[in-house]
Amino acid sequence: MKKHNIHLQPLGKTLTVNDQTPLIDVLHEYGIEFPCGGKGTCGKCKVKLVAGEIETTDIHRQKLALLGLGAEWRLACYSTCTSDITLEIDQYNHLILADESEFEYSPQRGFGVAVDLGTTTLVAQLIDLATAKVLAVETMLNPQVKFGADLISRIQACIDGNEHELKRLIRFNIGTMIELLLVKHNVPLHKIAIVGNTAMHHIFSGFDVSPLSQYPFDTPHLHAITFTTSELDWNFEVVGDITFFPSIGSFVGSDILAGIAATGMHKNDTYCALIDLGTNGEIVVGNKNQLICASTAAGPAFEGTNISMGMRATTGAVSSFKLVENKLIANVIGNVSAKGICGSALVDAIALLRKQDLLGIFGEINSGESTIELIKGISLTQKDINEFQLAKAAIAAGLEILCQSLKIQLADIQSIYIAGGFGNYINSSHLVETGMIELPVTKIHKMGNTALIGAKMFLFQDANTIDEIRSKTIHINLESHPNFQDIYVDKMLF
Ligand code: FES
Repeated sequence: MKKHNIHLQPLGKTLTVNDQTPLIDVLHEYGIEFPCGGKGTCGKCKVKLVAGEIETTDIHRQKLALLGLGAEWRLACYSTCTSDITLEIDQYNHLILADESEFEYSPQRGFGVAVDLGTTTLVAQLIDLATAKVLAVETMLNPQVKFGADLISRIQACIDGNEHELKRLIRFNIGTMIELLLVKHNVPLHKIAIVGNTAMHHIFSGFDVSPLSQYPFDTPHLHAITFTTSELDWNFEVVGDITFFPSIGSFVGSDILAGIAATGMHKNDTYCALIDLGTNGEIVVGNKNQLICASTAAGPAFEGTNISMGMRATTGAVSSFKLVENKLIANVIGNVSAKGICGSALVDAIALLRKQDLLGIFGEINSGESTIELIKGISLTQKDINEFQLAKAAIAAGLEILCQSLKIQLADIQSIYIAGGFGNYINSSHLVETGMIELPVTKIHKMGNTALIGAKMFLFQDANTIDEIRSKTIHINLESHPNFQDIYVDKMLF
């Protein structure tokens, strides 16, 4: 079979592929994402063709034209490799969600690996179980992104017959990350703790995901599951268990269970809340007696998926805005010219536009225009602002309903922990000013990647501790709450 070379700039990497290889199959490893699942509507998989030829079909040309992309651009999801080509890709520099936080532990012998299996990002840490110190970290984008950015697309891809491929991809890549950790430190592994949302748990474990796609969204497989390396086709030894920890509900997984452990809210007398602003927006409220949790549809806007100039926190993304002499000043990741905005900057932009009285109480652009320029070349559309309102209302309404379910007032919450990569960069005052969190800013604490911190803690804890958290945590469906619609609509206002 004929082979071709794909040169990737500015990575300086060359891939050799078979004739007719779809670019979607080989570029996801280099940070190219496929948020619309290859439908040609989001444009986020665009690559610049610097040299060589990629033939385009009529439909590909139509999609490029609709997205306003000129002759030098191609959509990776519509392209196959038929000759040597050079592509410029700038999506490769993804956020490292590693963390080195400290926690209480009882020393043990040996070494373990904690894995945060996120919808977007995978992180694995090699831990010395005697000291709880992180010896090495590996991170990569979840290779399943080529089937779509969000959980619904992944679940649909499984239902469409790709479940074995999604399972193979995730098992293979996590295995590879662990091998890379062992290349850095050649130590014997005693255990591996994996956490992730329920869909990731099901796909990794080989369970049927279809119950997650239809009412009443009940799955019989929320339990923990242990594996051997041979079941996972991993070529290294693990003395003890490889455990994927249990989910709390159909849309609240062991990443949130780990988050509860990381915050310690299951041991607190006072009421606390955990909000994970990841691809999904999960919320937990409660104290040592009872915890109630739910998932919201808040995530995609903060990940840039539904925002016209939205992007993840990579090179070229505006990560924050500040107001200086009534003018927005942007901080751009990588110190290059701005190409788009990520979730933290979106929150800043909305809060500061409100402060300048450029947005009304319903989110309308007061000038009457359909877009508003933030800085040169970077704008928000009216639709972007409305997407933000939907997301912030989902969080605010979720908090309110969980408090109602616990028969407490919002003001009874003493601490709010913000988790997730995006949460780390966010300006807490702007969360309050936009109405996403209607509590004093002094109650907000940014916690980093609580899923990873919790997974590390799980390496040291026995099943009883984890069962105890799980047994006091109830999962509810926000939409089925009788007041949901009214509260949700109300929270959309500024
Ligand atoms: S245009 Fe959305 S994945 Fe290609």
